[in-house]
Order: sequence, then C-alpha cells, then structure tokens
Amino acid sequence: MFTPPPIARDRLPALLAAMPKAELHIHIEGSLEPEMIFALAQRNGVALPYASVEQLRRAYDFSDLQSFLDIYYAGASVLLHEQDFYDMARAYLARAAMENVVHAEIFFDPQTHTARGVGMETVIRGLHRACADARAELGISASLILCFLRHLSEEDAFATLEQAMPFLDQFIGVGLDSSEVGHPPEKFARVFARCRELGLHLVAHAGEEGPPAYIWSALDVLGAERIDHGVQAVHDTALMRRLADERIALTVCPLSNLKLRVFPQLSQHNLKRLLDAGLVATVNSDDPAYFGGYLNQNFTEVFAALPQLDARDAWQLAHNSFAASFAPEAQRRAWQDRLAECFAQHAGN
Ligand code: ADE
Ligand code: ZN
Repeated sequence: MFTPPPIARDRLPALLAAMPKAELHIHIEGSLEPEMIFALAQRNGVALPYASVEQLRRAYDFSDLQSFLDIYYAGASVLLHEQDFYDMARAYLARAAMENVVHAEIFFDPQTHTARGVGMETVIRGLHRACADARAELGISASLILCFLRHLSEEDAFATLEQAMPFLDQFIGVGLDSSEVGHPPEKFARVFARCRELGLHLVAHAGEEGPPAYIWSALDVLGAERIDHGVQAVHDTALMRRLADERIALTVCPLSNLKLRVFPQLSQHNLKRLLDAGLVATVNSDDPAYFGGYLNQNFTEVFAALPQLDARDAWQLAHNSFAASFAPEAQRRAWQDRLAECFAQHAGN
C-alpha cells in the first residue's frame, strides 16, 4: 500500500485541488447555475416564478431534502431541447476538468423531463454528445447513470426503462434518487432486477436522511454496487462492518449534507469516522450549483472543518474514487499511478 509522504497542513488545499480524482455522485440537473437557468428560460420562452438570478439564489435556503427538491425540479423545467442538455453537461465537464477531475459518472433524472413532454432521445443524446466532446476536447472521461425518481411509481420506472432501451449503449447504469423517507428501495426491486439482467451497473441513494435499514435493502434487495450518501450507516455497527468487509463504496457529499441539514455543522460531519472504520468513502458534490461548491470546494471545506483529516486521508479519498468507479481496471490503475505521482511532487515542493 502506498504511503503518502508527509505534507504540511497549510499545503493541503493546493494538494486537494491538484490531485487527480473521480466524481461519482453529481446530478447533472444540479449543476444548472442560476445564470444558466435564466439564459435557458429566455432562449426557450419558459416563465420562471423568480424575477432575477439574485432572487432565485436567495431561495436556496433549504431545511431538508424535500425543500431542495421542490426548487431543483422547478429549475430543470427550462431544459427542453437536445442543445440545452448538451450545454448543461458541457459546462459541468469544463468546470470539473479545471478541478482535476479526470473521470465523472453523471446522474440524470429522465422522468423530470419526460413528464414535461421532452423525449428520452433529446435528454440522452444531448448528455451523451457532451460527454463524447469533453473526452475529445478536454481529456476528461465521463459516463452516464440513469436515475429513477423514487417518489414516482414502479410502473413509471418500468416505462422509463422501456423508453431508454434504444440507448442502452449510452449509459452505464441506473440509480435511485429523489425523496428518500417513505420510498424504501423495496419499491424498485423488480425494476433493478431487470436492469441487472440487462448488464447495467446498479447504485442507489440510501441513508442520506433515511435509516440504515434502507442501506441494507439497497444492498440486499436491489443489489446496489455503491451507496450514494450512506452517512446514516454509522448508527448500525453490523452495517458498518459489512460495508467495510465487502468494500462497498459510499459517495459522500459534505456540502450537500450541510445545506440539507443532515449535519448541523460541517465540523460534525462523520467523513473521518467512515474512513477510520475502513469504509471506501469518496467525496462528491451532489448538486454543486445549489449547495455552494463544486468538487474541490467540497474537499477544501470538509478538510478545513475536520482538522483530523490529513494528507493520508486526501490520498485515500482520491484513491477510493478510482477504485469505486465503473471504469476498466487498467484505467483505474493508471489514474491511481497519476495520483501517487502528484503526491510525490507535492512532498518535494
Ligand atoms: N436528487 C438530486 N439531489 C439529490 C439528493 N441529494 N438526494 C436525493 N435525490 C436527489
Ligand atoms: Zn444525490
């Protein structure tokens, strides 16, 4: 196992920004900045219930997950055409590449769009073209994960999967997101079983606001390969042991947890505890346009708030992000080698 060289604490922010990393939990609709929401509203003739960018931004004062989702779905209503989806994803990927994100696995919520009459092909073609262009022009690797909205029915999820069938080669997996409490993973057991037969990767949000029982059922009923958030696992010792033993990654989102009041303060976040328990934790931005920061901001703020996090944790988190990704093994190893080189350089400076 690589041991990172000693690095002074005041050099951590530069290291966190410079280190190559993967982002595994980003909702592309959550990267829509208020300026882009207004620009797309104007381009598409969509009326918004906010008078200005500033007024919209002032509404980003959330009390819990649902209070955020109401505004997030309203923001996504400006997306109508393939070019809109392209522009949104391209903007995120340009930003991510600047932050030394070398690989992103991007969630999208097709039901948010198909329910408004936007075609599945419009959504997927726009997002997929943005990923292909970003790879060619920015050198960042990116793939798509289709998320089912858990507040909607199983039948709606099956219909969504059916609509996505012609594009099976353009996304790598499925996830489960939206309002967690009251919508346990069991509701989607049969849809996930079908997706597994189709050879898709499986992930699910669980244990963001919901109980550890939802994490157990995401694993045992859905067959999830990664757990999105999962921070409530600390309340169940047997679950913590299982996650560590089976190396099931958690895609943790510190600023999201702060803004949605999962933790009252970032200094109370349990990221260090998860790492110390041997879990494969990663850091991610979730919905960066809404939660006050992209990936590097999530890293720097959580490291500033938790002084116990050190350079070894930084290396572990970036290493985990590659280990937990769905990229081919040779590619994951190549990124991990680049990570080791980056740490060696920073120690020498
Ligand atoms: N959709 C977008 N962000 C989400 C989150 N943090 N939890 C559940 N669903 C989401
Ligand atoms: Zn999420």
